[in-house]
Amino acid sequence: MSSAGTGEVLTDSYGRTLRSLRMSVTDRCNLNCIYCHNEGHIGHSREMPVDTIVNIVEVASQFGMDRLKLSGGEPLLRKDLEEALARLPDMKDISLTTNATLLKDRAASLKEAGLDRVNISLDTLDPDKYHMITNCTRGTFDRVLDGIHEAVDAGLTPVKLNMVLLKDLNDNEIEDMLDFTRNYGGDVILQLIELMDFRDIPRYRINANEVERSLLAVSSDVSVRQLHKRKKYIINGVEVEFVRPVDNTEFCANCNRLRVTADGKLRPCLLVNDNLVDVSKASREELPDLFRLAVSRRVPFCRSLKEQ
Ligand code: 5AD
Repeated sequence: MSSAGTGEVLTDSYGRTLRSLRMSVTDRCNLNCIYCHNEGHIGHSREMPVDTIVNIVEVASQFGMDRLKLSGGEPLLRKDLEEALARLPDMKDISLTTNATLLKDRAASLKEAGLDRVNISLDTLDPDKYHMITNCTRGTFDRVLDGIHEAVDAGLTPVKLNMVLLKDLNDNEIEDMLDFTRNYGGDVILQLIELMDFRDIPRYRINANEVERSLLAVSSDVSVRQLHKRKKYIINGVEVEFVRPVDNTEFCANCNRLRVTADGKLRPCLLVNDNLVDVSKASREELPDLFRLAVSRRVPFCRSLKEQ
């Protein structure tokens, strides 16, 4: 029972079939956002070589996981990302979550290497607030805007903007962000994200139900995505999604992701730290069983699934 690739899919004991791999390729970041969850990791760890990245993605792909998201830290701090992308198997969707500070000069080469699209972290259109949230150096905000533009030009679309809502800091900017995306005629989509308060900053916690109500009041249409039961609103012709990971049993019930940490550990859940499966030294032959082990350890963080 070791090889993968005979049509076997990985389904956990709660009936959740894994479709998507979310891989951190570095813990390093050139920003220091006030709320960042650091993908659940503290401190820096040894990064996986390209060979390991390729092996892990190939096995995931053989298990029918056909979506890949590369994340960080800031993944573009790795100069060998294009090399890794070029060696990955064909998948339905390969995306990258980036702060876009280094994207301008890499958008075209990333696309060329096989990247389909990018998610870009952008919480505000006000340079001073951006500075405050990300602790960045001067000029960074403009580089991010250039990065977004270049990503659209290179066809890394739809570009999704991740906006983490922070009470009394940027929660009055949703309309401005929608206007910003509207200028891109469908190539840029706004994605609102509920703050997961890993850093104990309760003053920034928003009331998610209130946000939903205010979006509903101005939208012409609402649909519900299968993934995480996310709501998608259409407001003045542009779409906006609201991602609510906090205390959301639907979020867990529909989770089809397996995470990989920057140092090569399979991570069954973002919110759980003690069940990781180290694959950093595993041979290609050992990987499938280690995937099966990680999936057997998947327990929904929001437990109400158990009762179903
Ligand atoms: N709460 C919600 N989302 C977060 N992200 C990082 N930290 C948090 C948090 N505490 C998300 C943001 C960012 C991506 C890299 O991770 O959406 O764009």
